[in-house]
This record gives sequence, C-alpha cells and structure tokens, in this order.
Amino acid sequence: MIDLALVPVAGWGTRMLPATKSQPKEMLPVGRKPVVQYVIEELVNSGIRQVLFITGQGKTSIENHFDIDAPLITYLRETGREEQLQDLQFEREDVEYFYTRQRRQLGLGHAVLCGKAMIGQHPFVVALGDSIIGRHAQSDIVSRMTTVFEREKADIVVCFEEVPAEEVVQYGIAKPKGAVGEVFELADLVEKPSIAEAPSRLAVAARYVFSPEIFEALAETKPGKGGEIQLTDAIRILLKRGRKGIGVKLAANEQRFDIGNFESYFQAFIEFALHDPQYGPALREHVRKLLG
Ligand code: G1P
Repeated sequence: MIDLALVPVAGWGTRMLPATKSQPKEMLPVGRKPVVQYVIEELVNSGIRQVLFITGQGKTSIENHFDIDAPLITYLRETGREEQLQDLQFEREDVEYFYTRQRRQLGLGHAVLCGKAMIGQHPFVVALGDSIIGRHAQSDIVSRMTTVFEREKADIVVCFEEVPAEEVVQYGIAKPKGAVGEVFELADLVEKPSIAEAPSRLAVAARYVFSPEIFEALAETKPGKGGEIQLTDAIRILLKRGRKGIGVKLAANEQRFDIGNFESYFQAFIEFALHDPQYGPALREHVRKLLG
C-alpha cells in the first residue's frame, strides 16, 4: 500500500504575477480553499499518510496552513463559532508533513530529486501542488494509479488528460504503445512538443507514481526543455531501459484545473464558486446579470 507522496510547490509562479509576488501560487484561493489544500485532501482520500513538500523561498505560508493553529482554535471555541471550527478540520487530517527546500530553481525533475534522501527505497506518488483534479477534489485518481502500479508491477504510472491540439505545447505528451483505453502502456513521453511533433493529445496531468529508481534516472538527466531538469526526461530514460510505464486516463467528470496561468485560474475559481453550496445560487444570478 503506497502511502507516501511528494508534493512540489517550489516554482515561482511567474506566469501569475503580480498575484504571486509575495504569496505562493499554491495558496491562491479557488472558491473557499487554497489550491494546495484541495491537493492534500485528494491525496488523503486516496490513502496517503505522509506528505513531503518540496518548497522554496517565499513558501512558508504553506507550512503555516497545514499547522495546527491552537490560539485560533481556542478563540473560535470560546466565542462559540462552531461552523468556523469545522473549516479548520483539515488541520487534523491523519497525515505527517515533511518539508525540504529546493534551493535552486532547476526544474521539476530537480525538485523531485530533492526528495531522494527522505523517500529512500519506497514507491511514491508525485502530486503537483498547483493542480486540482475534479471539482472540489473528489477524485480517487491517485488510488486508481497506485492500484495499477501494484497490479501491473509497473515502474512508472502517469495520469493523462486529453487536451485540444493547441494545448499540447503546454504539457508532457504521451506516445502510447498500442490501443488507448482507460489504462494503457506508455512507449514514450515528449515534454511540450509542437502540434506537429505531438504523438497524441494525451497530456500529463500532474499526478505520477514512481518506483525509487526514478531518482537514479533524475541524477543522470541533463537540462532539457527551457534549460530545466525535466521529470519527463527522467521517465524517458527509464522507458528506454525497458522499465514498465503505464498511463491512466482521467474520467470525463475528473477535469484537471491547472492553477499555473490566469486563464485556467479564472475558470477554476468561477466554477468552484458557482458550485459553492451557500453562495453559488446567488452568484449564478449575479453572473447572469453581468452577462446581460
Ligand atoms: C509540468 C510537466 C509537464 C506536465 C505539467 C502538468 O509542466 O513538466 O510534463 O504536463 O507539469 O502536469 P509545468 O506546468 O511545470 O510547466
């Protein structure tokens, strides 16, 4: 049973300036909660009990968010604010948190490599801290992926979402081996290809499961796209060595919300806010009026 996840949250979020100048993009609210809280709630629902955050400069508010805030709890209790106390329930999730810093911005692959000493010889999940899967993070994609990892004796399992052709340039793209069903075998992966070079429209969707051998591959990985050490390139090294890679497709109701640029952030915020049980219905009316 895989219960260990590495959550990279070290990126600068330059595509979302000025909002991210002094706060991490992972702490931007989508509806009522910051992005990274959805990520952790999703992982906990999938059986994860240990989380290693790979943080960086300016990310301490993430640590504060998952800490237990005793004075605030006492205050809410003493003033009879039971409802607000419920909002802090996530602090009590049955999870251990660990934090280490990526001290240089050398790419996602390098961020994952920063977790090597702590992960050791265990298989583990990687969940990108800026992506929510499914509305309000109800998805059990990670537990489906860990089940496939164990059943298929795979070395790599990657989650994919089908994207429109013009979006392939933003993602790692799968080259499947054979037919593509809900679960399929991976022949190769390409990081952010042009439309012409893209072997499919299946885009890596922010969740992975790895055997610890990925660390050896990462240590050998040279800077790739954008001069960064790419996780995609380390996966390719393993695939070339004949290691088994499996893709798992998100279901139709498991949209991925990428909080890495304003366009998809705005979409995610509106969708989550419109589905807020308390304020959603009135907001719907308001938006209707605005759209006239
Ligand atoms: C990273 C990965 C890319 C993946 C994407 C979303 O890119 O390099 O392969 O498709 O996350 O999971 P980034 O968004 O950091 O540029």
